[in-house]
Amino acid sequence: MIAIDRRAPKALHRQIYDAYRAAILEGRLRPRQRIPSTRVLASEIGVSRFPVLNAYAQLLAEGYLESRVGAGTVVSRSLPDQFTRSEPTDARLAATRPGPRLLARRASIPPRREVSSWLRGWGAFGVGQVAFDQFPLHVWSKLVARRCRKPDAKSFHYGDPMGSAGLRETVAIYLRTARSLRCEAEQVMIVSGSQQALAIAGRVLFDPGSQVWVEEPGYFLARDAFALTGFHLVPVPVDMEGLDVTAGIQRCRKARAALVTPSHQFPLGVTMSASRRFQLLEWAQNTGSRIIEDDYDSEYRYESLPIASLQGLDANARVIYIGTFSKVLFPSLRLGYVVIPPDLLDRFLEVRRAMDLGPPTFHQEVLADFIAEGHFARHIRRMRLLYRERRSALVDSIRQELGTMVEVLGCEAGMHLTVTLPRGTRDREVAARAARQNLWVWPLSASYHGEVARPGFILGFGSTAVAEIPGAIRQLRTLLTVK
Ligand SMILES: Cc1ncc(COP(=O)(O)O)c(C=O)c1O
Repeated sequence: MIAIDRRAPKALHRQIYDAYRAAILEGRLRPRQRIPSTRVLASEIGVSRFPVLNAYAQLLAEGYLESRVGAGTVVSRSLPDQFTRSEPTDARLAATRPGPRLLARRASIPPRREVSSWLRGWGAFGVGQVAFDQFPLHVWSKLVARRCRKPDAKSFHYGDPMGSAGLRETVAIYLRTARSLRCEAEQVMIVSGSQQALAIAGRVLFDPGSQVWVEEPGYFLARDAFALTGFHLVPVPVDMEGLDVTAGIQRCRKARAALVTPSHQFPLGVTMSASRRFQLLEWAQNTGSRIIEDDYDSEYRYESLPIASLQGLDANARVIYIGTFSKVLFPSLRLGYVVIPPDLLDRFLEVRRAMDLGPPTFHQEVLADFIAEGHFARHIRRMRLLYRERRSALVDSIRQELGTMVEVLGCEAGMHLTVTLPRGTRDREVAARAARQNLWVWPLSASYHGEVARPGFILGFGSTAVAEIPGAIRQLRTLLTVK
């Protein structure tokens, strides 16, 4: 930022002063931003400390800089806005010269969601929000500290694109025992969440224009991830037994794959029946198609034992299984996994390597310790009790306050449930109004690719305390009844 010209007639301290002043006024340096100490700057630009001290003294005296005890020298917090030019990106762009600016067609495929979106906030009924305050951070930080005390060079270098060996092994054990998968550690790839798993699977399996069954209604971020890669999505209705395979065959028998959430359909909450599972597996075998199973929250089942995975039923290695730690631990961890059929392993590996070389290693190793030492299983057991209590309180409040106005779906598992609303209710509008009151329900209509069959709301209960629930539901009732 500071360029010094020793041959220029302007004195060095004046050059430094002018450079800082211009950077502040043009918004390249922002209020509160720290600037280097005089010693560091002098050594970086190769001058003695005197001109730097002089320039800083002038900038401090004129109020461009301020020094704060313990924080060094920072750009002044009290500069009036009109003196600084830190325009938003759009305004800055408007000032540039016009000319063609081409974009990829696929960049406009994911729909632009509302600015004041119900997706954004943190609070009552936020979908996908976990009780992070219950996470055993003291255990996690001990495990991090232990790994830092005895650092292993491998943890600090590029890792295996498939993920760290320790984590893959613990995940494979967990999936075989808790989810009845047929898998070995070599088939497990660690990814940064289910979106990345879909992006990799999509690149391995499909070409632009390939047809893929998606559940209708379904998880819109999964749909976006697939659409972005240029696939043609074929919405297939979901009924009380899960994805309607016969309808899928009628619409597009030769689809290359089906993306399903069989344990706890998102968002309707249905568990796919055994006969549908076999029908789906048979379709895949007959047509050479693949099934992508998104098993995102099956650790939490409240009325029965967890439902065995579809992958475990598949004798022909047609299922690609995706799981995530976003629900059982916390979403910002951005860790999940894919279990890859043996015939696709090389392809997945090559695509992965080309995309991002692999997931960050350090936290994978911490997570492997967390699982291997029993903390994971303990955390799930505790959370299952907590979420069950929150779920029951929510169902009770909905029954009491909303009565027959709504139907409750999918409350046997997971961290969210769905309520359907009377036909004609504009669920997106109500959700947008609810967001302004700090209620973060998702409109059911956003889960439809095509025509909306029923309006409704998806309500998360992971981060909503029991005591908060009745009041928040009463607020929602008011929003629904007041036009
Ligand atoms: C159907 C479904 N799949 C997957 C996820 C989790 O995705 P990720 O692993 O990207 O956090 C969610 C989160 O809400 C979901 O609803």
